[in-house]
Amino acid sequence: MKTVLVATDKPFAPVALKGIREVVENAGYSLKLLEKYTSPELFYEAVADVDAIIIRSDLVTREVLNAGKNVKIVVRAGAGYDNVDLAAATEKGVVVMNTPGQNSNAVAELALGMMVYGARGFFSGKSGTELKGKKLGIHAFGNVGKYVAAIAKGFGMEVYAFDPFVPKEVIEICGVKSVDTVEDLYKTCQYVSIHMPANEKTKKSIGTALLGLMPVDGVLVNTARKEVINEEELMQIMEQKPKFQYLSDVAPDAVDAFKEKFAGRFYATPKKMGAQTEEANINAGIAAAEQIRDFFEKGERKYQVNK
Ligand code: 3PG
Repeated sequence: MKTVLVATDKPFAPVALKGIREVVENAGYSLKLLEKYTSPELFYEAVADVDAIIIRSDLVTREVLNAGKNVKIVVRAGAGYDNVDLAAATEKGVVVMNTPGQNSNAVAELALGMMVYGARGFFSGKSGTELKGKKLGIHAFGNVGKYVAAIAKGFGMEVYAFDPFVPKEVIEICGVKSVDTVEDLYKTCQYVSIHMPANEKTKKSIGTALLGLMPVDGVLVNTARKEVINEEELMQIMEQKPKFQYLSDVAPDAVDAFKEKFAGRFYATPKKMGAQTEEANINAGIAAAEQIRDFFEKGERKYQVNK
């Protein structure tokens, strides 16, 4: 009998886990659960006798893959797979997949929620501003970016987007203005919401060159990855522009310095919570379980990311 390990330091909602269990057990497999583990060693122990793993932002390192001798497939229940050592997986013949789009609405709702939070002075009771009529730039127009655009239009924002991998027509069909260069996006918009993956090209790519183009009361919203920000340069910008806000889903490395220097215009969630809704957990978790079943039963590899 095959065993599927759900290894989630940040657990799925119970209702999602119930759905995952149903898919796994209906396929004739057994489910093993490792939640809120306190050390990587516990992960190494748990993978020793399993055939498949479902993870969230959990680190799947070479050591994890070495410990999981029978593992054939790892599914990241979510979009970003920068937490998986793809080279090690490929070397070992382990298939890695993500579940694109399944948690995008949750992340997009949080991005807009953070914009409202920032515009209303962190719900302090002071007079704030509205989103209506403000220009929002979406940096990378994938699944999350599209949801952000749709919700922002409901707020009456003027929405722009830049994505070198998405044709202009696809952006414009969503009622969003496509800009020709990334610089144009940062120059044009008071709000910029980031939605690109963290990879060798994007890491530390958001710094003075782009943020310097934003207005003095610019607002940078990051529900992507902390690694895409050049933190020292962002700090310089926030020092130069005393109204500039940084709202982030997951704390920057220098969180204490940000809190101390930029109180009232910096906010970071205590734990990455963009996808932390029952609905997103159900969508992404069940999709992950189904992808594992379909991989074992039918050889399906549609969402493989280490081809
Ligand atoms: C993703 O890449 O899908 C999101 O960042 C969600 O990550 P999480 O599953 O750790 O909440």
